[in-house]
Amino acid sequence: MNRTDSPLRSRIAGALAAALGISVLAFLVAAAPAGRAPVFVPAHDPAAAHAASMFTQGRRTFREDTFGDEAFWGGALRLHEGIEGAALGGVGPGVSPKTALAVGLKVDSDALPDSLKDALKAGQVNLDDPATTLALVKLDSVVGVHGAFDGGGKLTAVGIQCALCHSTVDDSFAPGIGRRLDGWANRDLNVGAIVSLSPDLSPVASALGVDVATVKNVLASWGPGKFDAELILDGKATGPNGSSAVLIPPAFGLAGVNLHTWTGWGSVTNWNAFVATLEMHGQGTYLDERLDDAGQFPLAAANGLGHVRSSPDLVTPKLGALEFYQLAIPAPKPPAGSFDAAAAGRGKLVFEGSARCATCHVPPLFTEPGWNMHTPAEIGIDDFQADRAPDHAYRTSPLAGLWSHAKGGYYHDGRFATLRDVVDHYDGTFALGLTEAQKTDLVEYLKSL
Ligand code: HEC
Ligand code: HEC
Repeated sequence: MNRTDSPLRSRIAGALAAALGISVLAFLVAAAPAGRAPVFVPAHDPAAAHAASMFTQGRRTFREDTFGDEAFWGGALRLHEGIEGAALGGVGPGVSPKTALAVGLKVDSDALPDSLKDALKAGQVNLDDPATTLALVKLDSVVGVHGAFDGGGKLTAVGIQCALCHSTVDDSFAPGIGRRLDGWANRDLNVGAIVSLSPDLSPVASALGVDVATVKNVLASWGPGKFDAELILDGKATGPNGSSAVLIPPAFGLAGVNLHTWTGWGSVTNWNAFVATLEMHGQGTYLDERLDDAGQFPLAAANGLGHVRSSPDLVTPKLGALEFYQLAIPAPKPPAGSFDAAAAGRGKLVFEGSARCATCHVPPLFTEPGWNMHTPAEIGIDDFQADRAPDHAYRTSPLAGLWSHAKGGYYHDGRFATLRDVVDHYDGTFALGLTEAQKTDLVEYLKSL
């Protein structure tokens, strides 16, 4: 089921679209030179009007669409029963709001009615009761999670949305509760722990050709902020640094960046179709003959993952606007006072000069305009994760907004705990001979991006 069919949502979306249309118009009129007619008027400029509608649709898809994946998370894995708990007709202890926040789920304060906010502030809401979690799900306030309820108010399925992993909140109401920050990597989210709440993991086990106990061990090995999108393709569950899971990257600041994902699987829209269809288990279409390579992708080849077609197709019609929205999300600027501006100014010169960082991280994209891929040897690391993708290489990470995803570390698997560790790595690999002061300045510059 798809949340976009709710009449209230449509009304809100309609109002948003109208407001956006008006603001685009106001901006364009204001931007016209005095004494001349405005150049762009949506009525006469189909592209401007289309941009406003694509933005609105894309945001809605990113935040609200499950692409019909309730059939998997609810129907097959019965995850909703694990959330409800036995007392409410489900299985096990259930998930209290405290547990939900502890596994990194976030609550959108804009979706909470004032009465509930007041009760929360007054400490009158039971945060140890799974019934409260269900109420929050019903309000569509749990970021990235959609619940389907029957006429009697019983939870019958849950589905997941892109926002689950690629949004967080600003904590303005309380830790884990605040306004949405779309595109930010949720590095608190323990995807493995959440999936493990499902009473029936046998569909995952049979897709991977292992037993349920093995699936549980693998899910437990990921930890916060990580997920392994390649597991269903190659069945590899351990890498050189332990778990084979990678960090959730940000989905902001991507416009102008050629290839996406840590290992450059393709464009934003290639990856969106991949994730919505193969990972979220939405009802979509994914066609990719690269997955027929049984040597590299034994599970994908055996299960035909490069040839998935669904009818109805709930993903493909949304891909255009979904990509458009992600490309519109800017990288967030670091808060004032979070870095030493004078040192950052000196660090910029090191970045562009003796440290040679800008040869790959070309400002202001901070990746190569053009082909942004490198062999593992070029950046001085192992080839494990690179070899799990078609090009056997790593993509030059865009660095804008780096400060917002410090948690979990840097590089695809978080192998470098701090920016200083990253700088030391390059200093050694490229034999840069940076001084202590240059390293400190470089780190301050990275924090300023
Ligand atoms: C379960 C968590 C999860 C969900 C849900 C999810 N993603 Fe991701 N996303 C990831 C991870 C992890 C990666 C990195 C994958 C890799 O490199 O192997 C990623 C990579 C990306 C990238 C590449 C960013 C870059 O660095 O260039 C984009 C764009 C993206 N996801 C968008 C989406 C969209 C759109 C959706 C919904 C259709 C979605 N994701 C759903 C976890 C998730
Ligand atoms: C040869 C090209 C190249 C050069 C030169 C280079 N980088 Fe990188 N950089 C990469 C690639 C590729 C990655 C992605 C590594 C991965 O996925 O694990 C990366 C990742 C990073 C990251 C981690 C980003 C994240 O999201 O975790 C930081 C920070 C970084 N580089 C900073 C620098 C600095 C500082 C320099 C100069 C000292 C530099 N890079 C020089 C290619 C390069």
